[in-house]
Amino acid sequence: MIFHLLVLVSLVQFSQAENCPDCVNSGKVWCIETAQCGATSCNTSINRPLNCPTNPQYGYDDEFMRSEIMVLATAAQNENPQLCFDNQLPTMKLYQIRTVNCSTKYSDVTCVGYTAFDTKRKVISISFKGAHGQDQIEEMMEDGMKYGLLPYYTVTNGKIMKILQDYFMLLWNEGMQQDLRHLKYKYPSYELWVNGHSLGASLAWAASAWIANIGLYKPDDMKVVVMGAPRIGDYNFADWHTKTFPYNFHILHRSDPVAHQETYIPVTNSTLFYPKTEVWYNNYMRQGDPFQICQEADGHYCSGTLKPNATQYIDHLYYFNIDLPGWGHAGCPMNISAFAQP
Ligand SMILES: *[C@@H]1O[C@H](CO)[C@@H](O)[C@H](O)[C@H]1NC(C)=O
Ligand SMILES: *[C@@H]1O[C@H](CO)[C@@H](O)[C@H](O)[C@H]1NC(C)=O
Ligand SMILES: *[C@@H]1O[C@H](CO)[C@@H](O)[C@H](O)[C@H]1NC(C)=O
Ligand SMILES: *[C@@H]1O[C@H](CO)[C@@H](O)[C@H](O)[C@H]1NC(C)=O
Ligand SMILES: *[C@@H]1O[C@H](CO)[C@@H](O)[C@H](O)[C@H]1NC(C)=O
Repeated sequence: MIFHLLVLVSLVQFSQAENCPDCVNSGKVWCIETAQCGATSCNTSINRPLNCPTNPQYGYDDEFMRSEIMVLATAAQNENPQLCFDNQLPTMKLYQIRTVNCSTKYSDVTCVGYTAFDTKRKVISISFKGAHGQDQIEEMMEDGMKYGLLPYYTVTNGKIMKILQDYFMLLWNEGMQQDLRHLKYKYPSYELWVNGHSLGASLAWAASAWIANIGLYKPDDMKVVVMGAPRIGDYNFADWHTKTFPYNFHILHRSDPVAHQETYIPVTNSTLFYPKTEVWYNNYMRQGDPFQICQEADGHYCSGTLKPNATQYIDHLYYFNIDLPGWGHAGCPMNISAFAQP
């Protein structure tokens, strides 16, 4: 009898999923607090494999993001990104900045991206500018409602917003492709950094996927870092992007409203999803402020635990406690105190 009981107990234990991915893939819900599968009352539950807690493959370096990636993303705000480099990253050299008329409707809507290289860091960087002007924001919303998401190339097995594919391909064909190929030919062993803020973050994600997909760079040779990124793709895209890029961070400031936008796109019946890894600063992002490396991808975790607060639009503009567009327009001067959050 006792023997039978023991067999039964061990069988039951054996059939229980002991880790989150097995649990979720078997259609059950994983509970973070208890680390158990199928828990009925749970504060933080997981029902998608991508949300199973994991740590990023590479460490997150606040100082690197603050002093280098922040400058690269901000420089896209200036018609001459070199001004920002001269003030902040003197060995970084602008290669080309590209501006395209990217609207079929408005005359003042442009998309901007640039390429740069640094022989000291042995790096090529590609960056994109954020949205500027009410017309661009309106066009993106209108297009999103009208066309929603489209499949994005074969390898990704996912979909992203059609408007972002259009924007990115216009820039790419306008010259960014030829610029990047030229730089890679000249500096074949350099790493590629892909970055941006806001719409620039969305375009950086679209670019990273395209560049990897056409085999121009291996994902292992790329660092993808974006700030204030809206969600751009569906679950399959987020899952693919997460698995493809080992160095892949998206930084979110406090209650940046982009993180609280509607995630359901009715016209294509799609739900938008963030890839990993979110790094969330629930503070002013001053030097030394704490941050959370989010172990989940998207849901009621990290920035998703805050209620949306439309009055916090300022959290989208300030990163690392600098007014990003303002500092960029000014050419990223050394004295940042005039650009700090009041
Ligand atoms: C869930 O949250 C409540 C309130 O914060 C707490 O009392 C409870 O212990 C939590 N449950 C688990 C399983 O962590
Ligand atoms: C941009 O394109 C639109 C539509 O094709 C056109 O109406 C507009 O004049 C163009 N703007 C510029 C600055 O070329
Ligand atoms: C929308 O997508 C969901 C999830 O993929 C699916 O269950 C549902 O049937 C779809 N609805 C329509 C109207 O296509
Ligand atoms: C929203 O943010 C404003 C500005 O920081 C703050 O005063 C207000 O209390 C917040 N509202 C909620 C509901 O958190
Ligand atoms: C930096 O800028 C602030 C505000 O514009 C100004 O008050 C301060 O004197 C400047 N500091 C230096 C060292 O130039």
